[in-house]
Amino acid sequence: MELENVEKVASEEIDACENLDQLNETRVKYLGKKGLIQGFMGRMRDLSNEERPKFGALVNKIKSAVEEKIRIAQEKLEEMKINKKLESEAIDVTLPGYKFNTGVIHPLMQTIEEIEDLFIGMGYEIAEGPEVEEDLYNFELLNLPKDHPARDMQDTFYINPNTLLRTHTSPVQARTMQAKKGEPIKVICPGKVYRRDDDDATHSHQFMQVEGLVLGKDISLADLKGTLHEVAKKVFGDERTIRLRPSFFPFTEPSVEVDVSCFKCNGKGCPICKNSGWIEVLGAGMVNNNVLKMNGYDPEKIQGFAFGIGVERFTMLKYGIEDIRNFYMNDQKFLNQFKGVK
Ligand code: DAH
Repeated sequence: MELENVEKVASEEIDACENLDQLNETRVKYLGKKGLIQGFMGRMRDLSNEERPKFGALVNKIKSAVEEKIRIAQEKLEEMKINKKLESEAIDVTLPGYKFNTGVIHPLMQTIEEIEDLFIGMGYEIAEGPEVEEDLYNFELLNLPKDHPARDMQDTFYINPNTLLRTHTSPVQARTMQAKKGEPIKVICPGKVYRRDDDDATHSHQFMQVEGLVLGKDISLADLKGTLHEVAKKVFGDERTIRLRPSFFPFTEPSVEVDVSCFKCNGKGCPICKNSGWIEVLGAGMVNNNVLKMNGYDPEKIQGFAFGIGVERFTMLKYGIEDIRNFYMNDQKFLNQFKGVK
């Protein structure tokens, strides 16, 4: 190529470059160490002394011109590259978002968590026990010896004569007492329990309870009432009051049935409270001396209260659910109603 043509041809080639790689190839071709322009420099050796500076100056001028063109082309191509990238990464903020199907905390778990929060705030610990339980803990150590008629209150799934599916969370009381060996206790025990019931709107062969047990010096029925009043307020609303009625459980003496003032009619009388103004919500009482003794506690020194909350019953009352089976059907339409309730 003639020197005079170099700038023009290089110019055309630079303009034809579509990307930075091509431009780089062109740069090497013209400006590289073994490039065209360097080649012309090499020819200077063969020129006369007068021609040499003129020729050298011309080569340098062409070199600068090509360098400048490449610099401008590079800027342009870099900008194009960025614009292309921005274009491909553009976010259309008007597009509908992705739908995340978040689960729902099961309504029964919501009730349990609510109760746990309350009791943890009052300094209780959470205790757990096995669902496959020994007759010893489920009945005997709770003052229900073999053949005791009160065993009939809880129809039992036996695995063998000494092993059963626990019929209530009360065996965790006995287990905790045995573990604490005479020390004061403040625990709640949430969990599943099983009974040989025929399933219907209000019965289920498996359901959930939260047991409570407090043992200490001078714990009285008034402490029980105060504690359960807090539960009623937390679950059913701040205006709730409670009342205790005499009842019977083998593991407590005295035993009480606890009613909460009707949250629907505020005690005036309505179908939910069967016009009584009160709704029965749980069983409780002062721990029976026999139970204390059998589990290593001296009733002269230490006493306390226990209660058993039916989680399904609480939850059904709270949300007006009429059929207990709703809790176990995994029906999304039912469960999704409890999104964000807590
Ligand atoms: N275990 C009883 C039941 O399942 C409920 C209960 C009543 C628990 C009184 C207690 C209590 O701790 O003191 O029917």
